[in-house]
Amino acid sequence: MADLIRLPMLRGFGKTDRIDQWWKGPLATFLGLSAAILYASWRGLVEANFWIFSDFGLSGGQGGTAGTMAIESEGSHVLSPLFSPLIIPGESGLGTFVPESLYWVSPAMFILAIPAGFRMTCYYYRKAYYRSFFTSPPACAVSTPFGDYNGERRLFIFQNMHRYFMYLAVVYLVVLSLDVYYSMQFHDGTHHSYGISVGTLVLLINVLLLGGYTFGCHSFRHMIGGRKNRFRGTAGRVQEACWKGCSKLNKKHMAFAWGSLIWVMFSDFYVLMCTSYGWQDFVLLGGI
Ligand code: FES
Repeated sequence: MADLIRLPMLRGFGKTDRIDQWWKGPLATFLGLSAAILYASWRGLVEANFWIFSDFGLSGGQGGTAGTMAIESEGSHVLSPLFSPLIIPGESGLGTFVPESLYWVSPAMFILAIPAGFRMTCYYYRKAYYRSFFTSPPACAVSTPFGDYNGERRLFIFQNMHRYFMYLAVVYLVVLSLDVYYSMQFHDGTHHSYGISVGTLVLLINVLLLGGYTFGCHSFRHMIGGRKNRFRGTAGRVQEACWKGCSKLNKKHMAFAWGSLIWVMFSDFYVLMCTSYGWQDFVLLGGI
């Protein structure tokens, strides 16, 4: 058996022979992910019935109003993706299956596990946050304080659930696509018509970016490729074509990961601004 040859590397936290600005990437990742986590947590809590946030939105369990979670101008319904599908305990739809006694829980909390779990276990995000949050290691050829990487074991065993989160994320895409459709419907009591508002486009771009991220997922590619190492026969050709299609998205997986994350936050921000801070959701086509 060949002898193991280790490349020389300086030992000690952050020590390295690298002369480039290797820390810029992990730092940018740390700041970007921290901002997204803080914003999403704040928005979720604002829409909960906690006394501490009673001066803000307060809509969960408040007679079924959409608060700052959805724009409802001219009878259209532009729902923020952070709260979709909208589950208000004891209210119609999915809320009927949730006991009314949970009225104080933010609607975001009922669905958060799916997008958060999908991203947390994503192969790209793992690399990104292992480096930027755990410095394990901070970058290639940079020393870590925690010893060598030991695989997805112990605390990190849940990372192996990525495939199951991927299945849920595909369903979630259908739900978000339905939200785009609902945002195109306008009612005023007697009339019903279709139209497109800026909010519709915001939600549509969100679905496209999330679609690019989800369909470029390594697990999705493996599944759509028939879970094979080789493609044979007619069925194999179809699977190979699907696999290659996913590979095109997979090459841009990092870009889609960031683009979709930023746009989800922006979509929610847009809804917040329209419901609370005077922005108007302009109807571009059709409407009432
Ligand atoms: Fe990134 Fe599956 S590997 S979403």
